[in-house]
Amino acid sequence: MTTNGYMSGFGNEFATEAIPGTLPVGRNSPQKVAHGLYAEQLTGTAFTAPRGENRRSWLYRIRPAAMHGRFESFAQPRLHDRFGEAPVSPDQMRWNPLPLPEAPTDFVEGLYTVAGNGGSDAHAGVGIHLYAANTSMRGRYFYSADGELLIVPQQGRLRVATELGVLDVEPQEIVVVPRGVRFRVELPDGASRGYVCENFGALLRLPGLGPIGSNGLANPRDFLSPVAAWEDLEGGFELIAKFGGHLWHAPIDHSPLDVVAWHGNYAPYKYDLRRFNTIGSISFDHPDPSIFLVLTSPTDTPGVGNLDFAIFPPRWLVQQDTFRPPWFHRNVASEFMGLVHGAYDAKAEGFAPGGCSLHNCMSGHGPDAATFDKASSADLSKPDVITDTMAFMFETRGVIKPTRQAVDAAHRQRDYQACWAGLRRQFAPPR
Ligand SMILES: [Fe+2]
Repeated sequence: MTTNGYMSGFGNEFATEAIPGTLPVGRNSPQKVAHGLYAEQLTGTAFTAPRGENRRSWLYRIRPAAMHGRFESFAQPRLHDRFGEAPVSPDQMRWNPLPLPEAPTDFVEGLYTVAGNGGSDAHAGVGIHLYAANTSMRGRYFYSADGELLIVPQQGRLRVATELGVLDVEPQEIVVVPRGVRFRVELPDGASRGYVCENFGALLRLPGLGPIGSNGLANPRDFLSPVAAWEDLEGGFELIAKFGGHLWHAPIDHSPLDVVAWHGNYAPYKYDLRRFNTIGSISFDHPDPSIFLVLTSPTDTPGVGNLDFAIFPPRWLVQQDTFRPPWFHRNVASEFMGLVHGAYDAKAEGFAPGGCSLHNCMSGHGPDAATFDKASSADLSKPDVITDTMAFMFETRGVIKPTRQAVDAAHRQRDYQACWAGLRRQFAPPR
């Protein structure tokens, strides 16, 4: 397998060939493709989606994707779409990191569903999963027909070998594997952990910038898609599919990562979160967290996200006469947060890297008592700098329903609400 780089840009029309002269000129599907390859189209949007949103790629491969055995049910009971099996409590919830496995566990075996909403049938909502794994996928390939996979590694690098090329990512980077694209995950560092948001809705895209202007937040050129790379392997392999909320597997006698050349705008990509141009207030007050938006999956309602992916990276706080951490709030949207690195500025303790929290529609939350006390008496004549941090949020318009395994998990913090118990009554009306 050749691996020699990336192509830059978000949703660009890329063209890449691992063997020169493979891509047909002037047509997508010539009578005969160079080098005896097959031509195959992979669409990620409706055929008639508006041009600015239309995504598809043409793959030139050793064998068509149709060639594999019959699918049968695959048992991996921790990964599923059964969100909210019991009535969903409005309680704020928080979890410690998912324990790393002791037995050999690859990426697919290590996936664990925490919560979600909507479903793949309706092409709306999200599935929120964690992974904790310690071995590379061997002789095994995976894809989700249910949604694109936004993978946020927290511990350990990932080598994501896809049909369209190879992406190497490390913590504080993300990788997005489009719906249907087959891939294998290798773990060069062994024990690895992270978060996965499976987006059942419209494809993730960069948000509009409005009055921010033509630059800022995540810049398009920092998104990297892989160049074509193929492997020509034959053997007794396994193709695992997530389809309709269930896992299936089929025998396959060759590697499906056999694409020698491709062109189009439907491709995996990675992004380094440390390149995010963080923008904030330079006078007073804390802006809404939409100012930290990296990628968004829109709905049919303007301005309302199916999935908003926001990050809270290192930044300066300079606001005057202002409570500088995030304020107390209740939102119509529901928020799932994770922490990749360091500490999050609204919580003094209890939110560890690899942990996660859930604040659902209209459930009050905000800084804990220790953070409130510190920020209320901070010296605002000096700027404050937050370093060594990378928190993120998956925000959705639908209630995020935890799975039964997540509610019952031993690593859930059953005393989470106590973090606000120390907020004292300090009301002192004039006499
Ligand atoms: Fe919040």
